[in-house]
Amino acid sequence: MTPEGLRAVAEGMPGDTPEERWAAFVESKLPAGEPAFSPFWWRTLRAFWQSGKTALIVLKANRAGGTTHVARMCAAPEMLFRERRAIAESEFVWANASATVPLANGSLRMVASAMRAIGLREVKKRSKDEVKRVAPSEFFISEGSVQTAGTIEFLDVHSNRVEYRSQPASRAGLSGFTGIGFTPDEVELWRGEAERPEEVLELGMSRLKGQCGAHTYAISRAFAEDGALYKIVSRGDTEELMIARLGEQGARDDEAGRLALRDHLRARGVAGDREALRYSQDRRLTEEADPTSPIVPAWVGIGPPEATILECWRLAATGFGLDEGEVPLDGLLRVYGGRPTGREGERYIEQAAIDAARSAR
Ligand SMILES: Nc1ncnc2c1ncn2[C@@H]1O[C@H](COP(=O)(O)OP(=O)(O)OP(=O)(O)O)[C@@H](O)[C@H]1O
Ligand SMILES: [Mg+2]
Repeated sequence: MTPEGLRAVAEGMPGDTPEERWAAFVESKLPAGEPAFSPFWWRTLRAFWQSGKTALIVLKANRAGGTTHVARMCAAPEMLFRERRAIAESEFVWANASATVPLANGSLRMVASAMRAIGLREVKKRSKDEVKRVAPSEFFISEGSVQTAGTIEFLDVHSNRVEYRSQPASRAGLSGFTGIGFTPDEVELWRGEAERPEEVLELGMSRLKGQCGAHTYAISRAFAEDGALYKIVSRGDTEELMIARLGEQGARDDEAGRLALRDHLRARGVAGDREALRYSQDRRLTEEADPTSPIVPAWVGIGPPEATILECWRLAATGFGLDEGEVPLDGLLRVYGGRPTGREGERYIEQAAIDAARSAR
């Protein structure tokens, strides 16, 4: 399809904002078998796009679908379809910063899968000639490695050359380009040069100034109350920032998930498993969720809640994420339910880096 054709089809999708139509277009093109975008992310992103704010801040539990949804619903379509102000020789970059380069590289495949779904062809080599670097309907991808930052480069539907680039979360990494979007990921784990993560975050966001409609999607697991993103979230919404909340439906989904686990444990209890019976009586499985909570449990993020919480339960029962003396229910609610206690980041970054290195292969 020609760029104009692509644009016309995407603009013809249902939705109140251009971003919603573009994301709906990507979703409509997902290959069979790939799960549709989750209702939680749809609700949250729709509200954000309608708000006209520039930054969405999401605190979430482990594995809540954050990186995948933002890469496919936001980064890929916004890079491709948004009109931008070209200043002579602008280098248009969507900065994708994470706690480490391999972690940042982990989202490249997700962006690439959206680009392929839309019908762009993946190429691994590009011309050295600046002008011919990338052809229309193609995207160049270099996936990067443990040491090197990966990139995706292509022409948007207005023929601007744009790049989705992994950047270290540092002042130097976030300087020297025109920002067309920004995905600071795992902000609570930013280290090294980013000892003042709030300043680095601010710098990354300031790169988008002058590009009308460009968005920041800041995501992190919630580890500790003194984390940079946690502090921003606790200060609340501003004219520019929207804090993602569980919402009424999210609270219902959270409760449905936890009740499903309660019933599962109770059934096992009836069958003679005394430990399961004891867990099934834990109040945390039945207490009401707070719709204003800024932390999204895994089972609300990717749903469906009943199935996802049972999967998280299975994972917690393998001992992953458990502190000494904790029972699986503690781990489940803390790691996948996003009820943070203490400094959690140190332990999870290793696992997260292993996951990212695997998916980058
Ligand atoms: N729409 C979806 N439906 C079902 N599963 C999904 C969906 N989107 C993503 N997933 C799966 O959920 C898991 C977590 O996704 P992802 O890594 O995007 O979440 P995250 O919140 O960024 O996690 P992390 O805590 O590791 O940063 C992955 O295994 C992913 O494949
Ligand atoms: Mg992630």
